[in-house]
Amino acid sequence: MSFKAKIIGVGHYVPEKVLDNKELEKMVNTTDEWIISRTGIKERRILGEGKGSSYMGALAAKVALEDAKVSAEEIELIVVATVTPDMFFPSTACLIQHEIGAKNAWGVDVNGACTGFIYATAMAAQFIESGRYKKVLVVGADKMSSITDYTDRNTCVLFGDAAGAIVLERTRQAETGIIDYILRSNGSGQHYLYMKGGGSLHPATHETVDKKMHYIYQDGRTVFKFAVTGMADITEEIVKKNNISSDDIKLFIPHQANLRIIDAAAQRVKLAPEKVLINIEKYGNTTAATIPLGLSETYYEGKLNKGDIIILAAFGAGFTWGSMLIRWAK
Ligand code: UT7
Repeated sequence: MSFKAKIIGVGHYVPEKVLDNKELEKMVNTTDEWIISRTGIKERRILGEGKGSSYMGALAAKVALEDAKVSAEEIELIVVATVTPDMFFPSTACLIQHEIGAKNAWGVDVNGACTGFIYATAMAAQFIESGRYKKVLVVGADKMSSITDYTDRNTCVLFGDAAGAIVLERTRQAETGIIDYILRSNGSGQHYLYMKGGGSLHPATHETVDKKMHYIYQDGRTVFKFAVTGMADITEEIVKKNNISSDDIKLFIPHQANLRIIDAAAQRVKLAPEKVLINIEKYGNTTAATIPLGLSETYYEGKLNKGDIIILAAFGAGFTWGSMLIRWAK
């Protein structure tokens, strides 16, 4: 018996507070013009103190469950992609499980940085394809503002907070749902995008705080070069592997880190601009949330039809990168 995992529910959450480029101009030496021309970002959302990624993830999950018409008790597994867990342990998956009342589920966090949602969805799909589970929740949630240094113009203009979620269900229909994926990593990229402090190598001390080691560090130029090639290559690879053409693709949902990286990947597979999801101007880079957020917004705008081919692609810290081919089944 062969099974596929199809998406039956989608949801997202973004905080209300908007941090726009004009406000950032008052905080660091930057300009609206620089940020827009180099990244495509106009504003981003900020969650604020007192709430963590699980808060956003649980809200997105509730919307996805409602959309799927599935009760929380029916969920058997929760996979959460995040680099900003509420705390090291317990996992954000456990916190979300409790918050939504998924009392029959176990859960686990996946740290795949910006590729996290694709990694998490691929892992979740395996539990369904193997026949073990019928319903799995996948969440991508990141409160990037919690690890962003708002005195560093190199990074503080880039990131924002958000969450997105999908409910996967087992189906016997072939050629539907999660059709294929390609996942990669290369740990030699560790030197270019990281948060050094707070882990077992550099536990929190006064010194790590003084040295700003609990914030994102990025060598933007190097990451940019790898991201352009990585995203474009992996997008082209999944298209070729599955023998589809740009005409067959209804929607390309790339990770939203930089408009120029997105354009390079879209051009490689010769996609018309209207087929490329771009919402970076509104939210910036929300790490594990960019892809489910883009998928959910498109879905609620009524732009997806049963049978549509969707391609996902991402590149992030690690380095990690990946792509996924989905045939929309709702
Ligand atoms: O999502 C995970 C993966 N991450 C990515 O994919 C991000 C990849 N990298 C990028 O998107 C881009 O490299 C950035 C948007 C981060 C930076 O753009 P860039 O065109 O690569 O700029 P740069 O880092 O080469 O910096 C150019 C100049 C520098 O000044 P000098 O050294 O030429 O005098 C920077 O100091 O721009 C300066 N700069 C800024 N100026 C105004 C850097 N940040 C800012 C800023 N405002 N916010």
